[in-house]
Amino acid sequence: RVPVGILISGRGSNMMALAEACADPAFPARIALVLSNDPAAAGLTWAAERGLPTAVVPHRDYEDREAFENAVHAHLRDAGVRLICLAGFMRLLTAGFVERWTDRLLNIHPSLLPAFKGLHTHERVLDAGMKLHGCTVHLVRPEMDSGPILVQAAVPVLPDDSAESLAARVLAQEHRIYPLALRLMAEERVRVSGEACHIRDGAPSTEA
Ligand code: GAR
Repeated sequence: RVPVGILISGRGSNMMALAEACADPAFPARIALVLSNDPAAAGLTWAAERGLPTAVVPHRDYEDREAFENAVHAHLRDAGVRLICLAGFMRLLTAGFVERWTDRLLNIHPSLLPAFKGLHTHERVLDAGMKLHGCTVHLVRPEMDSGPILVQAAVPVLPDDSAESLAARVLAQEHRIYPLALRLMAEERVRVSGEACHIRDGAPSTEA
């Protein structure tokens, strides 16, 4: 089973969804490390209570991004990690780090990329009057929230939605598609060609 490192900064609900998928011995990946840049991340406690290996690399302890990322990289390497899932990891990664993990670094983002990169996606979707919204799992490239798309899910924007109700509808889909994307990667069913991912064996690349 492919050893996976999950990077979090907070609540960690996507990490939990991935961990629950990996708890099935038939799943092709296993959690080798849950790492947080924030010692207070709630997800760390959850992971430790379940006996998952955890690490904390507080970014404030490092003099620059490169030193912080070198420490993160050393933890991942020592844990034997082969694939990384960013799951609410709120530090921008430099090109140096991203390029060391090309096509082995996944991110989940709460919008239908390439629309609504960046923060506060649910508020911005409502402000724009969008009728559809969703989430994306993609391979990470140095430019923020860009890279070949692995899986997306769409949800309707309903007339009475608040940012919170919309976020909850999207989050339920995040928890469904992140394990699906990790499975595709772990089973080596993804071929990257230019800006796009092609999925072998007729696996679904879209699930609305
Ligand atoms: C998730 O909605 C994730 O898509 C988003 O942060 C939340 C983390 O929740 N990520 C980003 O906005 C990345 N730019 P979680 O900690 O419960 O998984």
